[in-house]
Amino acid sequence: MIELQNKIAELAEEAKKAELNDKAKLEEFRIKFLGSKGLVKQLFSELKTVPNENKREAGQHINSFKLFIEELFESAKDLVSEKSEKKEQIDFTRPGEAVLLGSRHPISLVREEIIAIFSKIGFVISEGPEIEDDWHNFSALNFPPEHPARDMQDTFFVEKGEKEMALRTHTSSVQVRIMENQKPPIRTISPGRVYRNEAISARAHCFFHQVEGLYIDKKVSFADLKQTLLYFAKDLFGEKAQIRMRPSYFPFTEPSAEVDVSCTLCNGKGCNVCKYTGWLEIMGCGMVDPNVLEACGIDSTIYSGFAFGMGVERIAQLKYRVNDLRLYSENDVRFLQQFKSAL
Ligand code: PHE
Repeated sequence: MIELQNKIAELAEEAKKAELNDKAKLEEFRIKFLGSKGLVKQLFSELKTVPNENKREAGQHINSFKLFIEELFESAKDLVSEKSEKKEQIDFTRPGEAVLLGSRHPISLVREEIIAIFSKIGFVISEGPEIEDDWHNFSALNFPPEHPARDMQDTFFVEKGEKEMALRTHTSSVQVRIMENQKPPIRTISPGRVYRNEAISARAHCFFHQVEGLYIDKKVSFADLKQTLLYFAKDLFGEKAQIRMRPSYFPFTEPSAEVDVSCTLCNGKGCNVCKYTGWLEIMGCGMVDPNVLEACGIDSTIYSGFAFGMGVERIAQLKYRVNDLRLYSENDVRFLQQFKSAL
């Protein structure tokens, strides 16, 4: 009796240790323990040799061993088949879903490029509000109240409480804020969105983006302005780029100029992009009018400065040959995807 109990305990230990993690091992286990010539069957046949008075007890031992083995077998079988079912659900040969890569907007690309070029020579970025008051957008910049120059830029006016406000028509407004709050030397560029009340067409939009620059220090001259802009043009359009300046008028600069860059397509020889002039207009600039410096609390007898301002869409148009302004804000993926390689 004791012998039989020990044997069962040994077999139970052996069964517990058996690795039952695949179908082949499971089958081996089944044959060994539960098969027609298996160990369980053998134990039952040994029952014959047990004395009558112990038969009942011995039979119970063998029976519970049988149940134990069956349970072990069944739960291992479930685990193995669950595993293989899961495997079957995943089709490893199915092609993966492509991850769609976005591209950066051409306006962002060009704005970053312009900023990078001026950062190299010490210009820092300044930003300001898009809804401005009359002072920062016009008056401080030497636009007298009834001056016709205000009509140069058709303005969107908005009401904010009692005060009439406007959507800024240029980022020169940011520079007024800088001049009011900082002491020279000032070397800053103001990138940002601006608004003008114009009919939307291929050549005009009611909003666009600018980068305006301002440099104020002692003895800043027109020559400094010219060299700075030549450096910029060469960095942006290539070593061969040339610039020229044509006299112009802005209320906030004196003298003022319009800046052209030699045509990037024909290198100045004349083509249909530059309308056979060899030149493309890229920005306005000039020496900051002393009235503007004084309005912002800077002593114009000690300091002088230059300012310039360009449209980002215009530069992007020249770089990427986009000749319809509306494309920039339509969000047509076919248009935007073309700038992937420019990242
Ligand atoms: N503020 C001008 C514009 O929006 C550009 C400009 C800036 C011209 C600075 C001269 C100097 O058109």
